[in-house]
Amino acid sequence: MSENLLTVAYIVASAFFILSLSGLSNPETSRRGNIYGIIGMSIAFLATAFLSPNVSNYGLLLAVIIPGVIIGAILASRVAMTSMPELVAILHSFVGAAAVLVGIGSYLQHPTFPTTAEKTIHDIEIFVGVFIGAITFTGSVVAFGKLRALISSASLMIPGRHLLNLAMLLACIFLGYQFVTADHTNGLQPLLIMTAIASVLGIHLVAAIGGGDMPVVVSMLNSYSGWAAAAAGFMLSNDLLIVTGALVGSSGAILSAIMCKAMNRSIFSVIMGGFGTTSGTAPASGELPEGEVTPISIEETVHLLTEARHVIIVPGYGMAVAQAQHAVAEITKILRAKGVTVRFGIHPVAGRLPGHMNVLLAEAKVPYDIVLEMDELNRDFPTTDVALVIGANDTVNPAALDDPNSPIAGMPVLEVWKAQFSIVMKRGMASGYAGVENPLFFKENNRMLFGDAKKNVDAILAQLIENKGRNGD
Ligand code: TAP
Repeated sequence: MSENLLTVAYIVASAFFILSLSGLSNPETSRRGNIYGIIGMSIAFLATAFLSPNVSNYGLLLAVIIPGVIIGAILASRVAMTSMPELVAILHSFVGAAAVLVGIGSYLQHPTFPTTAEKTIHDIEIFVGVFIGAITFTGSVVAFGKLRALISSASLMIPGRHLLNLAMLLACIFLGYQFVTADHTNGLQPLLIMTAIASVLGIHLVAAIGGGDMPVVVSMLNSYSGWAAAAAGFMLSNDLLIVTGALVGSSGAILSAIMCKAMNRSIFSVIMGGFGTTSGTAPASGELPEGEVTPISIEETVHLLTEARHVIIVPGYGMAVAQAQHAVAEITKILRAKGVTVRFGIHPVAGRLPGHMNVLLAEAKVPYDIVLEMDELNRDFPTTDVALVIGANDTVNPAALDDPNSPIAGMPVLEVWKAQFSIVMKRGMASGYAGVENPLFFKENNRMLFGDAKKNVDAILAQLIENKGRNGD
């Protein structure tokens, strides 16, 4: 009876996970999507805890679950929006580590199988699960280190690195053959050696990827963590874990494909690691672009904005750090009331997580219909009077299009320099996440409004309100 109930609970939980994914595909329904996910996970957890015949040692379970829940809740509630990718990366590493431990634990149980075919299938499940898990674990730890700036975000270029990756992959395949053909106890050695090699492979694959391409890596590791969970589901004969893992794995793969398209990268080269920069690529930072930097004042900025007919605002990571979105929303309201057409241009990898800017603008209640994707807006810059760039850098860097040696070469960007004037708001001349100099700052029609984005948008807003009061409009 409880087995049947468990199956029903798992089917209901799976349905909630699917509803959750569909809700998360749109900012307007994303809150609902999250709630469906929470309900699905609660059903899955309670059903496994109380209906599964495999769960009995409640004392031990509570001893690990309670501290886990407390630590997780504290960390997740404290994390800043801008640090979310780091949290996601480290959580992926936990899934990878769990798959490795489940795989090794599953092997050490030495279950007996009625046929050799069943033993072989189980061994393959273990081997593949541990392989993906080890890559996910170490790759995610390196991604966490890069995103948190604990290690350099520059790509690690070891000579012959693709050959090295291939050699490690072939060694793992050979060890897999040894593992599957070994008798009951002799497989542990090849399994552990493969775990060590796959761990090095995970480190190397992610270390070879440059900072600007990290978004694709995070979504790819998300996908790997899903497949690692699905593999653990096969090992444990747990249907829900297989379904959930497959949902995470495939949605992560789809997200990676979308990100690859947005960044003009091939998904194959992402899986192989070290794409985006090739050996011999010169890092563009350090060489200053030609031209002069022209600063602009708050008054001049307000003048240009109020005289404009078409304005495009391009937000980036700096707007998120400064938490300037609410004042930006107020500025938008005032300009629109004056008859200025204001739209927002969103780059797919602006900020530090997919949809980062959309979330901030939705939170500030900017109407969805004026928030447009890069592709929808890029052709409109030549007819735009002012492009206001707030804390964005890599996503508006013309070097991506003009400089084939740039680490971000080929990545589509918002072509703000084609507007009559572009105004860039940032604190100084520092480069963006990819560490690349930005020739936009030196263009003749570009102006730099230096300072903290929040302070400056507050000042623009105050001036607009003052002008409004003075003119009585
Ligand atoms: P970035 O290229 O990272 O540039 C942000 C700029 O904001 C910096 O140059 C910084 O310059 C400025 N800034 C920081 N704090 C500020 C403040 N308080 N006030 C004003 N300006 C401030 O931003 P982007 O254009 O959004 O590009 C995102 C980058 O992150 C891309 O390279 C992308 O590949 C990478 N990335 C994205 C993701 C996802 S999924 N979106 C995940 C990981 C990495 P100053 O220091 O001079 O002020």
